[in-house]
Amino acid sequence: MKSNTVTALILAAGAGTRMKSDKPKVVHKVLDIPMIQLVATAAKEAGCARILTIVGYKKEQVSAVLPKAVECVHQPEQKGTANAVVVAADALKGSDGYLLVMCGDMPLLRPETLRQLIDVCRDRSMAVLTAQVENPSGYGRIVRDETGSIAAIVEDKDASSAELMINEVNTGIYCFALKGLFERLEKIDNDNAQGEYYLTDMVKVCRGEGEDVIGLQLTEAEEAHGVNSRAQLAQAGALLQKRVNERLMEKGVSIVAPEMTWISPDCEIDHDVEILPNTIIACGTRIKTGSVIGPNSRLYAANVGANCTVEESVVRESCMGDACEIGPYAYIRPEVKLGDGVKIGTSVEVKKSTIDDGSKIPHLSYIGDATLGKKVNIGAGTITCNYDGMKKSQTVIDDGAFIGSDTMLVAPLNIGKNSITAAGSAIGEDVPDDSLALGRARQVNKDGWVRQNRENT
Ligand code: UD1
Ligand code: CA
Repeated sequence: MKSNTVTALILAAGAGTRMKSDKPKVVHKVLDIPMIQLVATAAKEAGCARILTIVGYKKEQVSAVLPKAVECVHQPEQKGTANAVVVAADALKGSDGYLLVMCGDMPLLRPETLRQLIDVCRDRSMAVLTAQVENPSGYGRIVRDETGSIAAIVEDKDASSAELMINEVNTGIYCFALKGLFERLEKIDNDNAQGEYYLTDMVKVCRGEGEDVIGLQLTEAEEAHGVNSRAQLAQAGALLQKRVNERLMEKGVSIVAPEMTWISPDCEIDHDVEILPNTIIACGTRIKTGSVIGPNSRLYAANVGANCTVEESVVRESCMGDACEIGPYAYIRPEVKLGDGVKIGTSVEVKKSTIDDGSKIPHLSYIGDATLGKKVNIGAGTITCNYDGMKKSQTVIDDGAFIGSDTMLVAPLNIGKNSITAAGSAIGEDVPDDSLALGRARQVNKDGWVRQNRENT
């Protein structure tokens, strides 16, 4: 029986010199996600059972951004796109079904398109994804025969003046039957303008064996947008931003100013979430229904419950329950866990802390390495002094405690249930339940001091 398993092969050995970067091109991010990761995700969503990546230039940096399931194969020398497939021969030994060849620098390809390409390749040796473009320069041109099959792909540098006029180009995305693929690849030579082994020459080889090569033309050429420069990277970002925002609005998310809103494609946002202008919602974020995010907010891998507000604030790798109020100007650093109905107000910084239901830190505080129970109130200007210059220490504040304004909580420290600290206190010793702790100098009033001192001058 013939297998329909599809393996993806992502070509990413090149440096991408036009990026003028110390990093390999494919690790540059589009909407907070390395572009090769977007390509791998599209392959996975298209149904590819296995994903291989051809790496070369700074390969450690490329493999570092790929999911563990993606296998990397090293191409020692970049001898051309056909050679890049040949180096995967060992890894593919014994595999059957189809091979989907993709480029690591095409972050806009849709899984549906890849599936269509795989479908048209069924029972054939080769199918090519093509695009009709206004300016074909630089691309391989698609030459069709009278039946509409692909007769040849001619590289820009090898093309005749008539061929240069062709507007249908090779996207560099192909599907091949694995059966016989490596025997066919052996027939490709490097006798061309660039002295490279061109994968595009597979057309000639297949036709030589009497096989038709089918071309699937993209309906939306932008899907094949390749990134070779910083300008094209920005264009890819804008195109993906539009696509993601449109998908979310279709789902019932309000985005007040789509062109001023950047949301990573992997974010999960429920209907009736409202996103106000100038907001960045980065990779790994989840927002439940009824929440209002922005204006001017940034969420990085944040988990936001239902009916929360995050106004002019930054949240990193933290989660919150429902009906939390964040900001304006709050900074929630990693490993913060908020219960329901928690308020983190104006100019408050929180780090590595757990804060239970109904607790409030309304103004100007720093809370780090702390555990707060339910309904704790933290007065303005309160600081957990969690660091002694050598190590971090914990502050634990039990349910219902009331911390007076401008309290210095010198950790390690426990504040008991329903206890109160007096405003302006430095509290360094544990406070039992239901107690008042005063940790400040007693006030002294000197009667007439001002009058006397004025008389003396
Ligand atoms: C290739 C196609 C061209 C097509 C264009 C679309 C060939 C000969 N030409 O041209 O028809 O219009 O893509 O973008 O295939 N790579 C390797 N190892 C190599 C060579 C390349 O991994 O030895 C990778 C590159 O990193 C890149 C991709 O393959 O991601 C494409 O290679 P590149 O040399 O840029 O091909 P193009 O000249 O763009
Ligand atoms: Ca290219």
